[in-house]
Amino acid sequence: MAELLEPRPQTPGGHAGGDVGSEELVGHGEMKTYFDEPSLEYEVTETLIDDGVREELASIAARYPQPRSALLPMLHLVQSVEGRVTPAGIEACADLLGLSTADVSGVATFYTMYKRRPVGKYHVGVCTTSLCAVMGGDEVYSRLQEHLGIGNDETTEDGAITLEHLECNAACDMAPVMMVNWEFFDQTTPRRACEVVDALRAGEEVSATRGARVVTWQQAERVLAGFPDGRADEGPTSGPTSQLGLRIAGERGWSAPDPADVRTTDDSSEETK
Ligand code: FES
Repeated sequence: MAELLEPRPQTPGGHAGGDVGSEELVGHGEMKTYFDEPSLEYEVTETLIDDGVREELASIAARYPQPRSALLPMLHLVQSVEGRVTPAGIEACADLLGLSTADVSGVATFYTMYKRRPVGKYHVGVCTTSLCAVMGGDEVYSRLQEHLGIGNDETTEDGAITLEHLECNAACDMAPVMMVNWEFFDQTTPRRACEVVDALRAGEEVSATRGARVVTWQQAERVLAGFPDGRADEGPTSGPTSQLGLRIAGERGWSAPDPADVRTTDDSSEETK
């Protein structure tokens, strides 16, 4: 596995300062995970959540027969406003849904898409799970660390890039994959990954390999909260490797069996009774 850097103390803005020193390297094979990280910074009191945000949070809750089902998209809206999940965001969600803050923070600290520290303008995630790792993901991640001078879950001093190693993105056929604000960069290379982050930092328009333009973290999180930006159909939703089986089946005249003719395990166990 790539050598991973310990997260360093964050400034109030959440940015890591200073150069990366070799003494901060963690030994081979030692992987810091999301769950090793400190929990939310509960002492942070400043917030951007105002009455307008509360109205939007309430509008998300109103979409569901059981309002508590809205918690996940509501937390994405909190992130789009605050850059991460904050105590004020947790309290707002809890108030609106009639939940305890412990219930909400339990959810917010379980799922890795919810961030405990401020995220930069672009969240760059590199898959370092087995398949991507052996296909070059470890090298991509390691090169980005060197190039950006930051460790895992840290943000560049200009606030542009937050780097994180991710677990499987369910795009193993495109390994190794990198995501920028959840848009896929398939079959990436260390060089290509560095070019992408350089272009983003330079303010250039960047498109993911599947066609979609990369937007800011705040914009992407707002879409995940259920406020479409009209770009859902930008770019294809799958690539040639994902469709390979379909192409082979087409060439050979294969088709899926009629579900009515498929015996399930339950059917066969019934017959043996
Ligand atoms: S292992 Fe990287 S997408 Fe599955």
